[in-house]
Amino acid sequence: MELYKLYFCQLTGTLALAVFTSTLGSLQYGYSLGVINAPQKIIEKSYGQSLGVWAERAAGSSENITEEDPGHHPSVIMYWSLSVSIFSIGGMVSSFLVGFVGDLKGRVKGMLMVNVLAVAAGLLMGLCKMWKPHIMVISGRAVMGFYCGLTSGLVPMYIGEIAPKAYRGALGALHQLAVVIGILISQVIGLDFVLGNDEMWPLLLGLSGAPAILQSLLLPLCPESPRYLYILLGKEQEARHSLCRLKGPHDPTIDLEEMRREKEEASKEARVSIFSLICSSVYRKQLVVALMMHLSQQFSGINAIFYYSTAIFSRAGVSHPVYATIGVGVINTIFTLVSVALVDRAGRRTLTLVGLGGMCCCAVAMTVGLKLQNEYSWMSYVSMSAIFLFVSFFEIGPGPIPWFIVAELFSQGPRPAAIALAGCCNWTSNFIIGMTFQYIQAWLDSYVFILFAVLLLGFVLFIYFRVPETKGKTFEEIAAIFHKGRRIPTDNGELQELKSSTDA
Ligand code: GLC
Repeated sequence: MELYKLYFCQLTGTLALAVFTSTLGSLQYGYSLGVINAPQKIIEKSYGQSLGVWAERAAGSSENITEEDPGHHPSVIMYWSLSVSIFSIGGMVSSFLVGFVGDLKGRVKGMLMVNVLAVAAGLLMGLCKMWKPHIMVISGRAVMGFYCGLTSGLVPMYIGEIAPKAYRGALGALHQLAVVIGILISQVIGLDFVLGNDEMWPLLLGLSGAPAILQSLLLPLCPESPRYLYILLGKEQEARHSLCRLKGPHDPTIDLEEMRREKEEASKEARVSIFSLICSSVYRKQLVVALMMHLSQQFSGINAIFYYSTAIFSRAGVSHPVYATIGVGVINTIFTLVSVALVDRAGRRTLTLVGLGGMCCCAVAMTVGLKLQNEYSWMSYVSMSAIFLFVSFFEIGPGPIPWFIVAELFSQGPRPAAIALAGCCNWTSNFIIGMTFQYIQAWLDSYVFILFAVLLLGFVLFIYFRVPETKGKTFEEIAAIFHKGRRIPTDNGELQELKSSTDA
């Protein structure tokens, strides 16, 4: 009962508002990830018109291009591919700046400032018919990618710093929940009878900037991260005030004491830049774990499903692939909710292992289904169930956990640099899968998912042997797990074994 009271008095309205407000940024990220798929043909048609593909046809130079399907024209292919991929390039570049933006004026003001980018991107895309749509959309997607690279780091960083220890997993997983809700919303309103049609598609793209307006109105009501205030700025009173707002009236001495020790640790080392984080042997183990978690998220092949699901479903013999894709979005959301409920009980390590292991089995089942579907018609059900299960296993652990575990693995000093590096690794591998999947598929044909099965097995082994559980531990205790056994020089020059990070 006491424990129950302790837990629930920590979940205040202000904390809920802060988490809700910040995850509006994640919603935008998900929306932008999903929005570009459904209206591809319609946007290509509009690009074709503005590029004068029809004029060329009239002049007899592009005989095989029809007005209904201009997607085969080389210029249209190029502008379309750029519209899709420039988003990831924007994210790759800006994810490096997460630490800088978060530390400049604080997490809350950081999120507020970058909203200018989201609104600008929304306007560029929403008003694209006023000038050359292909240029406007590409510029808008680049700016939106840049915004999302920042937000996909700032949101987990802020939530990780304000969440009470017992809820850090569940609240951290809300970032991913908002991402998947964003994907689902974009899939539904991208249907041709809603906004995915000739007249409305600019609005469909432009709406990706809308949550930024609501977020900008709510952010001034959110408390700044107490860790930022106390550890970075040394403002104890303000940190106290922020803690009381987030957790309700209580004596914040224990939290401040924990932060004081973290601050002490941080003051022993110079500010950790991205470069020094890469070079430092002190944080090597944590860094490898953080990067591998993000690599396992992307190289699991999840975005092969998200970017190409409609094509994969058609290939597996499904008669209404667009609706099956929306089905994937629904399953995706449901299982992220399951993860939110389980992650602080079952733990990050267990859920990631179960998730990746399950995905590995599903990848094998998909291969069998695709290979044998011509011989046995019921095999298309095997492929389809395997796709749904693949996504479910992803959302149980490998989807949400990498986003927040990086903030847990590092103390205040190296945290922003680590989040920036992990974010960049995520965006880069996402880009690689997006660009290469179609070629790999053409090469491996039905065996394409075997490649992911092998990678998934490798990630399972790595996580089993190298990733510790972080559930319910303070940042200090987590650091101690990694530093245990590290030998440091003592004052008299001898090497002493470190039992916990606080010994350092
Ligand atoms: C994660 C991944 C993202 C993926 C999404 C699917 O957020 O980072 O790339 O599209 O999950 O739910």
